[in-house]
Amino acid sequence: LNGFTVAIDGPAASGKGTISKAVARHFGFAHLDTGLLYRAVGARVLDGELPEDAARALVPADLEDDRLRSPEVAQEASRVAAVPEVRALLVDFQRSFAARAGGAVLDGRDIGTVICPDAQVKMFVTARADVRARRRFEELRGKGVDTTFEAVLADVEARDARDMGRADAPLRPAPDAVQVDTSNLAIDAAVEAAVALIAEKL
Ligand code: C5P
Repeated sequence: LNGFTVAIDGPAASGKGTISKAVARHFGFAHLDTGLLYRAVGARVLDGELPEDAARALVPADLEDDRLRSPEVAQEASRVAAVPEVRALLVDFQRSFAARAGGAVLDGRDIGTVICPDAQVKMFVTARADVRARRRFEELRGKGVDTTFEAVLADVEARDARDMGRADAPLRPAPDAVQVDTSNLAIDAAVEAAVALIAEKL
């Protein structure tokens, strides 16, 4: 299974993170949430560093920062993610992760298109923006964050527009990705579909 790679892309709160974690656990694969890399760069930029310097200075401990899940860091992440130098500095780490022994699941925006175009399994997970915003809103509220559904929806839509509109590695499905819409699909069903898809290729 060395180098066996599952690429799961999609917009914010589409369910790709949950699906990725579940299939990694199911098959015993390592999992990398690549959004955390951009969030960690974003957090450093909010602390005053320049995007490129921040990407170069990144260390594994940065990924443990509790602030990474905040809406402010999410927005900054999508801004630094549009900087080509930042993206270029993060490529090797992601490709090495994908090549590790025992199989790997990477989730993000450009895994199937740019980082691992030869991935054995590619999925593109989507859902309507209002459904995704509702999920993220409930999640933030559960964590005690004081926000409104409208604010979360505006955040999600701003990030979608930035991620799809950038010139370098825009968010889009790879031509050979299997698309899954989770708007009306329970997470268990989406996980089952992903497990079946991977089992076919093993
Ligand atoms: O997935 P997550 O919401 O944590 O990603 C945060 C931001 O990082 C995204 O809005 C996107 O701009 C950026 N990102 C990216 N490429 C990836 C993963 C995340 O551009 N592979």
